[in-house]
Parts: sequence; structure tokens; C-alpha cells
Amino acid sequence: MSDSRNMLVTSALPYANGPIHLGHLVEYIQTDIWVRFQKSQGHTCYYVCADDAHGTPIMLRAEQEGISPEALIAKVSRAHQEDFAGFTIGFDNYYSTHSKENQHFANTIYTRLRDAGHIQNKTIEQAFDPEKQMFLPDRFILGECPRCGAADQYGDNCEACGATYTPMELKNPKSAVSGATPITKTSEHFFVDLSGLQDMLKDWLNSGAVQESMVRKLNEWFEVGLMPWDISRDAPYFGFEIPDAPGKYFYVWLDAPIGYMASFQHFCDREGLDFDAYWGKDSAYELYHFIGKDIISFHALFWPAMLHGAQFRKPTAVFAHGFLTVDGQKMSKSRGTFITASSYLKHLNPEYLRYYFAAKLGNGVDDIDLSLDDFIQRVNSDLVGKVVNIASRCSGFISKRFQGRLAAQLHDADLYQQFVTSGAEIAAAYEARDYNKAMRDIMALADKANQYIDEHKPWVIAKQEGQEALLHSVCTQGVNLFRVLMGYLQPVLPQTAQQAEVFLQAPFAWQAEALLDTVISPYKPLMTRIDRKLVDAMLDTSKAEFEAQQAQNKTTAQAPASESSSNTIDYDTFAQVDLRIARIVEANVVEGADKLLQLTLDIGEEKTRNVFAGIKAAYPDPSVLQGRLTVMVANLAPRKMKFGISEGMVLAAGPGGSDLYILSPDEGATPGMRAK
Ligand code: MSP
Ligand code: ZN
Repeated sequence: MSDSRNMLVTSALPYANGPIHLGHLVEYIQTDIWVRFQKSQGHTCYYVCADDAHGTPIMLRAEQEGISPEALIAKVSRAHQEDFAGFTIGFDNYYSTHSKENQHFANTIYTRLRDAGHIQNKTIEQAFDPEKQMFLPDRFILGECPRCGAADQYGDNCEACGATYTPMELKNPKSAVSGATPITKTSEHFFVDLSGLQDMLKDWLNSGAVQESMVRKLNEWFEVGLMPWDISRDAPYFGFEIPDAPGKYFYVWLDAPIGYMASFQHFCDREGLDFDAYWGKDSAYELYHFIGKDIISFHALFWPAMLHGAQFRKPTAVFAHGFLTVDGQKMSKSRGTFITASSYLKHLNPEYLRYYFAAKLGNGVDDIDLSLDDFIQRVNSDLVGKVVNIASRCSGFISKRFQGRLAAQLHDADLYQQFVTSGAEIAAAYEARDYNKAMRDIMALADKANQYIDEHKPWVIAKQEGQEALLHSVCTQGVNLFRVLMGYLQPVLPQTAQQAEVFLQAPFAWQAEALLDTVISPYKPLMTRIDRKLVDAMLDTSKAEFEAQQAQNKTTAQAPASESSSNTIDYDTFAQVDLRIARIVEANVVEGADKLLQLTLDIGEEKTRNVFAGIKAAYPDPSVLQGRLTVMVANLAPRKMKFGISEGMVLAAGPGGSDLYILSPDEGATPGMRAK
């Protein structure tokens, strides 16, 4: 084995305001395979990540949910980690950018940049929401495109005609937060001056640290000269306050990559490792970032500039990948192809997806298509039909005829050696992130193993008298070929590989000696075929999740300004909503739910309705609700929740949290009356 290496590997930090979806998983699976491969080669390789917890969208999302940003990011972090565990993404540490370590490094990097003269202050003009009293990021301003007039376009570009512009050029601009018309306001911002770091960056980019296609893309930035990078935002902002500037906060993209350091520091403290050996200016260790191509400038311009300017080491390489499409199109919520990790896991084995992505991933930035029929076909034919089949074809005889003991000799030692020798090329493909080549090579070997079995036909030998020894060695050969292949697939299929180790009663090693004269367990199917029905069920779950979320967004009484300002509904649409006077017969807290109350509602029908309402913060003592009249949506589709089925929704108004008010009718109204 080559010299042992010391490596630190990261994936991009997912935003803490949404669930992990299959697009994200391209990256986490790609990285995890690489890390598992490096570990299998005996290298010291650590894999750290974290939630990216700061910024305006997270602040506003928390507000909308009526919880603190801290509560939101804690909740999302738990969900993210559960999803990652479901796909066996083997982080050595998973942390948060909202941490004391991150604040420490953000301050350190900022003050070092400042002291080295890389920070500038400038007053700039920006859109400001006079009602909400906050500056608005471009994404939070909507209006009509100045070029084509399309309505409801974001503040930076038009999705209808492709025009780009500044938010103040929009016609009839509205704040997406409050609906108010934004005004222009000035404010002092902090910038990293990149002009002095330009040559250093060019050298680093041309040193092979970044894929060539990405370098070409980044060269566009140099042609116009690198502009100072704005790293501050004004309060209110969820982030870290800049040490020498009260009311000013670090822009989320300043402290996000620093989160790699913070997560690693947190890991070092726990494991007693030397942080500086990895991040010090003269570190001889390797540092790799896996990212999507959309965030290349942050990782291949601003990040190395920050590191260099603050006397830390720069990354050994930044590996960008392309974007996921499903059946040839951008993931779509309404079609159900915006598939979250959790809806996938409800129906399908995570290793199917790990394999499929591996079979499609090369080391470039091409987009990757998850074609659902191809996915089913590939997994069934390669993993179930080829690989797992080898074990099932041979091991039955070992159990039944030889008490589970393998023969003392292989039947074809040369063939076995060929399989072992191929490991070098497969390893090289993994190392180069050419997983598609590695998978092709492995499947070619699997074809060979199946051919071998077809030729020697153990099921025929088994019926011949006096051929026990031959049967024994042929089946032992098959089991051993299977073992070599599973060893090669281990980075991609860690769970199946682990089950195979139990079956073989022996651990894998990359270039293993054959297993001879040892006992193996009876074979249990390691993987089953995918049925199209399961995939369809996943798409249905995904659609249902989206619809449920939309319904929920509407109850928060905080519909985005775009909807309230320009979209009207006709009377018929309104009349479809069955609004009824309801008497709250019972109101109880729900064991294990932070925000919910369980309401039993009488709406004049024979049966009462059971409704879960997110109003606990407003009514901590639910008994005050008992006997009260309110208004409910009686024809909302029932929704299955963790605690039971919710059969409708009660109407409440207010921003949320404790500031929320149940609607009541005037005296005289009785349960069952319909609102119109
Ligand atoms: N928070 C930033 C990253 C900060 S890193 C210091 C961010 N978060 S993200 O949640 O939007 O994306 C996380 C990673 O997933 C990014 O590398 C992004 O490119 C990748 N992907 C998100 N959607 C994707 C697809 N549809 N397809 C492939 N990768 C995608 O960006
Ligand atoms: Zn337009």
C-alpha cells in the first residue's frame, strides 16, 4: 500500500431552512464514497460538515413559523442528520455554523484580514422595507420586469425574459416580507478588497486545485478585475455581529465556509487531534471540498482569498459536481419529483440510490439525470441480477452439502488473481472520482464471475456422483469472487457490504487473500429487486408532502406579498371552502408535540372532528378554549400526522407563536352554521 495520507474532506453545508432532497444527496453520496474509499486504503481521512444556519431566509422562516431562529435551526439540524444517517453518510463530525467555534474563527479571519489591510468600508444604497424596517436581499423584492413587464419577478432577474437588473429598476416593486413599497436607503458596508490577492488566486487556480472547466468559468471574473466582496449586512440579521461594528453582521457567506474549520475544531477537541496540522499555513496535509458548481466562486475565489489573507492554508482541491435532474427535468414540487430524502427512505433502500449515482458520476461538472425507469433497470440488473446473484447461486451448496465450510482450495486461482489485480485500476478510478468507470469495471468482473458459474454449472455437478470435491471448489470460487466484488463496492454499498461480512464471517480488505476452509453463514438475500410501484409510491408521498406544506403555509396567515397583492380568487373558488362554526368541546395538550393542541370540535354533525392545531404557544392552558365557539375549515382533506389524523383546520390570526388569536363569531351563532 502506498504511503498513508492525512486528509480532511468536506461537503457543502446545507441551509438550515429546508429538507435534504435527492439533489443534495448527489453531493453527500459522492463525498461519502470518496471518504469511505480513502479509509479503505488505510489513509487517515476525516469527513466533516455542518448546517449553514445564518442569513435572512432563515431569520424570516423562523418568524413565519413563530419560533426563534435557534429553535428552527435545532429542529432542522435534527432532521438533516436523520436523513444523512438514513443514507449512511458517514460524517466524522456534523456541526453548525451557529457555534462558538465558528464565531471564534470568523472573528479571527476578519481581524487578520483587517489588520493586513484587506478590509474596506464603503457606503452603498440598498432597497429597504420601511414597514419591516429592514434591508431587503434581492430575492425578497418582487415586481414587474422593467424589460418585458412580467409580473412577480425577483429583484435580480426575470424568469420570463431573462433580463438582469437591480431591484430598484423593477416596476411597482414590493417587499416580499411585508408587501410595502421598498425605499432606497444608504448604509455603510464592509468589503474584502481582493485586488491584492488576485495573482495569488490565479496561481492557485492554475495549480490543478480546480477542474479546468471551472477555471475557465472563473477566468471571467478576472477579465473585469475582482471587485471588492461585500461581507456585511445590517441588523436585523441572524448571524454574528462584526466585532468592531455594532449593528453590522457578517454576511452568511463569510462565516459559512469557516464552518468547515469550526466543525473540524469541534471534532479535534473531542478526539484530541491537532487542528493546526490540518489548517496551519504550512500544513502538509490534504484538504478537499466537494461542492455543487453553483457555489464555485465562493469556494474557489473568496474562500482561498480569505484563508490566504488570514494566514491559513488553502484547499488542496475543490471538486465541483453538476446538478440533478429527474427524468430529464428540473426537480418539480408539483410533479412530485422534488423528492426529499425522507420520502425516498419511506419506500426505497438507500443503497439503490448510492449505486445509481455512483454509476452516473464522473469527475466533471455535467448534470446528472435520475431517470426513474433507468434507475430501476440498472439496480435490478447490476446489483440484484449480477452481483448478489453470484452469492446466491453458490452459497446454498456450501450450506447444504458442506456444513457451511468453504473448500481448502480455489477451483481457479488464476481467475481469482485476475479479480484481485483489477483492484488497482478500480482504486485509481475511485481516487479520480470516476465512479462511473469504477462501477463499469466492477460490473464487467461480475459478468465474468457469472460466466464462470454458467460454465461450471454447480447445479449440474451437484447431481453427479463422486463430484463432491469439484462442487466444493467451484462454489468456493464463486463465493470468493463475490467477496472481492463486494469489497470493491463497499464504499458505495456500506450496508450491503456489512451484511455480506456477516454472511462470510470475515471482514473485507481491498486486496484480500481468498477465504478458504472457513465457515460461512447460510445465505440470506442481500438485496431485492425494485418494483416500479415503490417508485410511484415515493412520488405520491412527495406530492402529498408538498401539498401538505402548501396548506400549512396558508394557515400561517403570512401569505407572501406576491400572492396577496396581485392574485385574486373568484367567488366559486371561495365558495369551495366549507367554513363552519365549531364548538371546542375539548382542548388538550399533545404528549411529545411542542406546538400542537388537540381539539375536539362539534360542528353540528353526528360525529365530532379531531383537529391538531399549532396554537399551543398562544394557549398554554388549553382549558380556556373549552366551550368556545370558533370557525373551522370543514372540508380540508384529512391529514395524517405523527399524533393522529387531523380532520380540518381552525382559523386563527396573527404572526404566530404566542401572538396568535382564534377567531370567534358573534353571539347567537351555533355549531354547524356555514360562513358565507
Ligand atoms: N449553504 C450553502 C453552502 C455553504 S458551503 C460553505 C448552500 N446550501 S444548499 O443547501 O443550497 O446546497 C448544498 C449543496 O447541495 C451545494 O453544494 C449545492 O450545490 C448542492 N445542491 C443543491 N441542490 C442540488 C441539485 N439539485 N443537484 C446537485 N446538487 C445540488 O449552497
Ligand atoms: Zn422580463
